[in-house]
Amino acid sequence: MSIDKANPTRRQVLAATGSVVAATTLTGFDFSSVHPDGSDLIQVAIVGCGGRGSGAIVNALKTKSGPIKLIAMADAFEDRLKSSYTNVSKEVGALMDVPEERKFVGFDAYKKAMDCLKPGDIVILTTPPAFRWVHFQYAISKKLNVFMEKPVTVDGPTSKKMLKLGRDASVAGLKVGVGLMSRHAVPLQQLQKRIEGGEIGDIMLMRAYRMHGPAGTMQSLPNPGKVSDLEYQIRRFHSFLWASGGCFSDFYIHLIDHAIWMKNALPVSARASGGRHYKQSAEGVAYVDQNLDTYSVEYTFADGTKFYFDGRCVEGAEGKYASYIHGTKGCAIASRANDCGGPSAIYKGQNMDESKLLWQSTDNTNPYQNEWDALVTAIRTNKPFNEVRRGVETSLVTSMGRMAAHTGQEITFDAMLECEHEFAPGLDTLTSKSPAPLVVGANGHYPQPMPGVTTDREF
Ligand SMILES: NC(=O)c1ccc[n+]([C@@H]2O[C@H](COP(=O)([O-])OP(=O)(O)OC[C@H]3O[C@@H](n4cnc5c(N)ncnc54)[C@H](O)[C@@H]3O)[C@@H](O)[C@H]2O)c1
Repeated sequence: MSIDKANPTRRQVLAATGSVVAATTLTGFDFSSVHPDGSDLIQVAIVGCGGRGSGAIVNALKTKSGPIKLIAMADAFEDRLKSSYTNVSKEVGALMDVPEERKFVGFDAYKKAMDCLKPGDIVILTTPPAFRWVHFQYAISKKLNVFMEKPVTVDGPTSKKMLKLGRDASVAGLKVGVGLMSRHAVPLQQLQKRIEGGEIGDIMLMRAYRMHGPAGTMQSLPNPGKVSDLEYQIRRFHSFLWASGGCFSDFYIHLIDHAIWMKNALPVSARASGGRHYKQSAEGVAYVDQNLDTYSVEYTFADGTKFYFDGRCVEGAEGKYASYIHGTKGCAIASRANDCGGPSAIYKGQNMDESKLLWQSTDNTNPYQNEWDALVTAIRTNKPFNEVRRGVETSLVTSMGRMAAHTGQEITFDAMLECEHEFAPGLDTLTSKSPAPLVVGANGHYPQPMPGVTTDREF
């Protein structure tokens, strides 16, 4: 039997070598079983059964390296859990064993779902990011491996918490994947290696654009009152900075991640501007969310290199959703369309003419599947795997650009990390009866960024 050394399955290696010791010697990985009782079945639970969570379940259950099963689901709201269960069952129902008694609803549902797992199993954390540290903390206490979606933080204080939790997870030997899936997109991996190898020379400039119409729940009218304001804010989390970091953090993080990765450095500061042109719906009702509809950011790296980012959610304006790198010898397309759409490419000089094409990627594998294959392989081979630090750093760099726009000030990386404004303290004790973290003002609006007026916090 041949073994793909970069990606061996436990079963493959054990069959080929005949023993745990021989397998470990051959590959350098620890081939003791996933669980102390010798079982190889990885049980999975999910917290946050929305769009991405449902996708992550499918990716998890489609990993091929050994037995895996979804056994528990948790969501704050019953309708979300039910629709996820129904939709996901159609695709991977054979690998699901989630009876009614292992479906949990409410703000403490995450504990109940994780309590169904054994140490070494996996919990998927796909709620809005505000809850990430709360759920991650409990997962570590239960010795669970974790897949968590991006962003992993939206402010300074919770970034510090997550950095510490990430270290705690490593000390406990836990494997943690973070949903910055571009890092598992083969075209971008190949591009990064080529840039590191000098194929475009020294990076001078990077730029990225995510410009389309209003998306997700980034625009909100006043709560009609059918649900509590807490529920309204969570269900419409792109509208509220405490829940998501707003459309800036939720939408723009992937393209910002490309720049950090290709440059192999974190920007030291950001200057930005932004505004809200469209302030009311077609019916004339005022939008009350916390987002601007255009953002323009200049990030600066320690060596002076610039990364320009434009974000816009305006219907009818030019649409563009891509990322580019410019070096002294040539230039590159990182993502041609969307968050990490290939092919990536390298061109001679600064014009992306086909006649100047030097390299173009051909891989078409799915980065959302690749990130899961990498996590589960690391668990089965007991190989170190922890993407939390990188997830926090990219989340912070994203927050830095957002805060620069929202305050009208230059924001350094250190200032973002040290900023003491925690957007929603006490989320670990939240119940359905708790007041919403954001309170509507007398003008009917939630507190909005006031660049140049409120300069040491975003709202
Ligand atoms: N990597 C990617 O390309 C990608 C794509 C989409 C979304 N995401 C990320 O995934 C996360 C979820 O986004 P989504 O689009 O799936 O949103 P969603 O609203 O569809 O799903 C979120 C789910 O979490 C539930 N929830 C909220 N608070 C909860 C809590 N405290 N406890 C339990 N459940 C709770 C909601 O009821 C909802 O079902 C976000 O962080 C988002 O940025 C990543």
